[in-house]
Amino acid sequence: MIRVENLHKAFGGQQVLQGLTLEVNTGEIMIVIGRSGGGKSVFLRHLLGLLRPDAGRIWVDGVEITALRGHEMDKVRERYGVVFQGGALFDSLTVFDNVAFPLREKTALAASEIAARVEEKLAQVGLSGAGHKYPDEVSGGMRKRAAIARALVTEPQIVFFDEPTTGLDPVLVNAIHHLILDLHRKFRFTAVMVSHEIPEIFEIAQRVAMLHDGVIVEAGDPQAIQESGNPVVQQFIRGQIEGPIRAI
Ligand SMILES: Nc1ncnc2c1ncn2[C@@H]1O[C@H](COP(=O)(O)OP(=O)(O)OP(=O)(O)O)[C@@H](O)[C@H]1O
Ligand SMILES: [Mg+2]
Repeated sequence: MIRVENLHKAFGGQQVLQGLTLEVNTGEIMIVIGRSGGGKSVFLRHLLGLLRPDAGRIWVDGVEITALRGHEMDKVRERYGVVFQGGALFDSLTVFDNVAFPLREKTALAASEIAARVEEKLAQVGLSGAGHKYPDEVSGGMRKRAAIARALVTEPQIVFFDEPTTGLDPVLVNAIHHLILDLHRKFRFTAVMVSHEIPEIFEIAQRVAMLHDGVIVEAGDPQAIQESGNPVVQQFIRGQIEGPIRAI
């Protein structure tokens, strides 16, 4: 579904992506792990067409998106759902209006149909009855669930999650993971997710890729990653201070 070839991106003199290559299969949950500041969100922003690479190419479902102009990219983006890092709900809109937003922006559906779809999505993420509240009136876990409802309300083919569980208690992390798995089973979207939740990610990903020093140093199924002979992967998933990765 997604093919990324030799992606390079620098900001000023800082090389962030240095030849990133990765494929994501249709219908799988691919989880990208790696150091804080290592370029995971920058990578996602390239997939979203929000950043242009200095070099390299990206194909989505056979279309080279790195060759597209603004309005052509908008067409591709209509098939996307996105949960941005931090949730990024509109504070001035209720939970209901946040979830309705992409339907109002991207479709010509009647208000009654939009209301029905929003209520259905809110129910699927366990937020029935919370639609009238504002983001600052609900808990962090509820905001994450609202962001997931907003990302999925258009029934996208591809969903990007940037750290959807950061800052939540362990029970809520598990609950959000189960919610994502449940929705994935129902809607069969292709997912690219950035997460620091180790070891939980090994329970929900079909494949895991580790981004380090601007490249994917290893990608494979959870067992292959856990048993990897690559010392960078081992140090990272065990959180060890000693090893090839500098701690600070
Ligand atoms: N628009 C930008 N302009 C300049 N530098 C940027 C820009 N976006 C990201 N960077 C830099 O690129 C590097 C990678 O950032 P990125 O947000 O991708 O990290 P990350 O892997 O998502 O980290 P975290 O796990 O903490 O979210 C950082 O050093 C960041 O400061
Ligand atoms: Mg990030």
